Amino acid sequence: MSVERPFVRPHLARLAGYAPVVPLSERAAAAGLAPEACLKLDANENPYGMQDGVRDALRQALQETGFGAIYPDPDQMELRAALAGYTGLDASMILAGAGADELLDLTLRAVLAPGSAIITCTPSFGMYPFLADLNQLELIDVPRGDGFALRPDALLEAVQSVRARGVDLVVILTSPNNPTGDLVPRDLLEALLNGGATVMLDEAYVEFAGLDASAQALLSVQPRLIIMRTFSKWAGIAGLRLGYMLATAGLIADLAKVKQPYNVNQAAEIAGIAAIERRAEIGEQLAAIRATRDRLVNALAALPGLEPLPSESNFVLVRVDPAIGSGRELHDRLASVGVFVRTYSDPLLAGSLRISVPRADQLDVLLERIAAVL
Ligand SMILES: Cc1ncc(COP(=O)(O)O)c(C=O)c1O
Repeated sequence: MSVERPFVRPHLARLAGYAPVVPLSERAAAAGLAPEACLKLDANENPYGMQDGVRDALRQALQETGFGAIYPDPDQMELRAALAGYTGLDASMILAGAGADELLDLTLRAVLAPGSAIITCTPSFGMYPFLADLNQLELIDVPRGDGFALRPDALLEAVQSVRARGVDLVVILTSPNNPTGDLVPRDLLEALLNGGATVMLDEAYVEFAGLDASAQALLSVQPRLIIMRTFSKWAGIAGLRLGYMLATAGLIADLAKVKQPYNVNQAAEIAGIAAIERRAEIGEQLAAIRATRDRLVNALAALPGLEPLPSESNFVLVRVDPAIGSGRELHDRLASVGVFVRTYSDPLLAGSLRISVPRADQLDVLLERIAAVL
């Protein structure tokens, strides 16, 4: 009798899988360079790394008996209290997760039944189509137009036509958007919400634009608004996996029942609270990143064949003149000299690269290496 392995459900077996960033050690080895000699600018992490005070808080936690040996708080009370202080919202409107990625998945799974739809505006974060496939959701794309600008009329029209079919939907917008770096116009967001759409607004990079750029003030009047945030980018703890969401208290209470009970580990909780306590010091890093970003944009614009887009975030999307090569070709040339940036299979971005902003002291090296491979 032949024994067959268990098979996964067909829609999961068909998944292409998410294409995550390749670890630095692997990329450096492929380039024949030591990791320290390379510039890792492919995942929009904080180039200054974990702030010293955050590292100290983790070190201290390691000395305590019980650290790591007992389960973390399933209700995330201390973390949510700290986040309440950070956001100015009530803790009942906040839920934390193992990165924004977990909360994006949790929310879509809880709010949309299979066969419902999400509307996205490519180019944007690659996790959204992956989650659509994972959760058996119809993916409706309203691609950005000239200069990668959102197309409000097309978006509002798409919402109307999906609703006319009687299909539930969530609109996912990203502000600042990855990879184009622009903010979602407030009037578009309000038009969508006022029209009755549920909007999941991904503010993973909002700290780089300044918290004033957040749409969180709308939460008190728009129960269909859901905001996603992360500590991965501004707080330099991407490896610890900590994100949170802001939404109306009723939705948060329901999602708190659906989430895995111990989804935020103790190290992430301690580091998150410490990062909030050190937000002034981390704010200095953010100011340096913004200043370096602006220098990077100006310097790239002065190089032949490169056209950087303005950015409100900690990365810059750069269009590459086909005379120089495709985005992929320039990516490969940069990789051979130890500069790791992000390239895309999406045809909309075939001629573009995304470069995360380096530390201020790395900028000259980056520019030299780019100039050398042009
Ligand atoms: C727009 C956007 N949202 C969410 C995430 C994921 O954040 P996290 O590390 O908290 O899962 C990213 C990471 O690249 C992102 O670019």
